[in-house]
Amino acid sequence: MGLIHSYALWNNKGGVGKSTITFHLAMRYAELHPQTKILVIDLCPQANSSMMLLGGGPVGEENIINLCKEATPRSVVGYLSTVITNGRGAQLPDPYKFVVNVSDYNTYAPQNLFLLCGDGNLEPMAPAINEAASAKALTPTAQPWKWIQEIIRNFIEDITESNDEWLVFIDTNPSFSIYTQIAVSGAERLLVPINADDSSKTAASAMVALLHGTNPPHPIYGSWTYAKMANEQGIIVPKIHMLIGNRLTQFKGSAAAFKALSDATSTSLYEIYKKNPDYFVEPKVTISSKENFIDYYSKPLRDFNSAGVVCAHLGRLLSSMKQKYYTVYSEEAKVNAEKIKECTKAIDEIIVNL
Ligand SMILES: Nc1ncnc2c1ncn2[C@@H]1O[C@H](COP(=O)(O)OP(=O)(O)OP(=O)(O)O)[C@@H](O)[C@H]1O
Ligand SMILES: [Mg+2]
Repeated sequence: MGLIHSYALWNNKGGVGKSTITFHLAMRYAELHPQTKILVIDLCPQANSSMMLLGGGPVGEENIINLCKEATPRSVVGYLSTVITNGRGAQLPDPYKFVVNVSDYNTYAPQNLFLLCGDGNLEPMAPAINEAASAKALTPTAQPWKWIQEIIRNFIEDITESNDEWLVFIDTNPSFSIYTQIAVSGAERLLVPINADDSSKTAASAMVALLHGTNPPHPIYGSWTYAKMANEQGIIVPKIHMLIGNRLTQFKGSAAAFKALSDATSTSLYEIYKKNPDYFVEPKVTISSKENFIDYYSKPLRDFNSAGVVCAHLGRLLSSMKQKYYTVYSEEAKVNAEKIKECTKAIDEIIVNL
């Protein structure tokens, strides 16, 4: 009982599908595992996964605004500001003062799905979080940087300390700003969406460098990077659990070229794996070739087409969609039964590997 696993969806590259995948995985995992509590923590100020979870489109947007404008916002900003104001060593606030049950806002959501809502004020709040992290240590045991880095980890520990089983997804921002660092420091594992393009290849290597540093370390930045401080202060850096090759079927007819590009990203990560297997969750099979590595660590996720767009807009479970026309703003969008089936299958293949 307690925490099964916590996964941060992160890639140093923007727009690769972190929020969309967080939304679909959380909704579907909750549907398939009614006995498990699923928690989404949205640490991206864009709050895109919160918007989809809380009903999608204008409904989701309004729900976020209402949660964020409460005197003590029921959002990541509310939680972080309360903990930081109370100070290190203070008792943690009741997590349920900040977390919402998604089904109270979105009738399509399973009842076992919870959210610590994203909040646009995370961006203006970031300098204050940085300031708290870089405060002078006033006692020999005080480690302000470590305390701030562990806020989300401690929050997860607190809320999952019950007789229930919990699975946690953390949505992130691509930048490695302080709020992304605390998202990453809060998770045990990483799910890394990648696209089939050259920038995904560089972003994946950059991501590993941000987490673990470079060898040799950078002559100037090397002494105060996240990697160095995490190592010195005993922050547990999450391990890569899965690379999700997102939208590989986007461009019909050139599937081979896109597969090759996505494989190029996996190949560059395989080189990293060979030198540092401990950056990855320990495999359950022997990995002795690039093919083994790709088979084991990378899963494709097809393009959702209109089925995904409509789901995200309405905050609906893919599996609950029917073949018909749905209204998206003033347009009618056709959702095809075959596509719903294919997309649900693709999500399920990721879920069985979590
Ligand atoms: N598998 C998919 N099929 C179809 N569309 C997708 C898929 N994955 C993502 N998208 C679309 O791609 C766009 C970017 O996705 P998303 O916002 O999830 O990326 P992100 O990584 O969270 O971006 P950011 O870095 O800005 O947070 C969105 O318009 C989303 O609807
Ligand atoms: Mg996003």
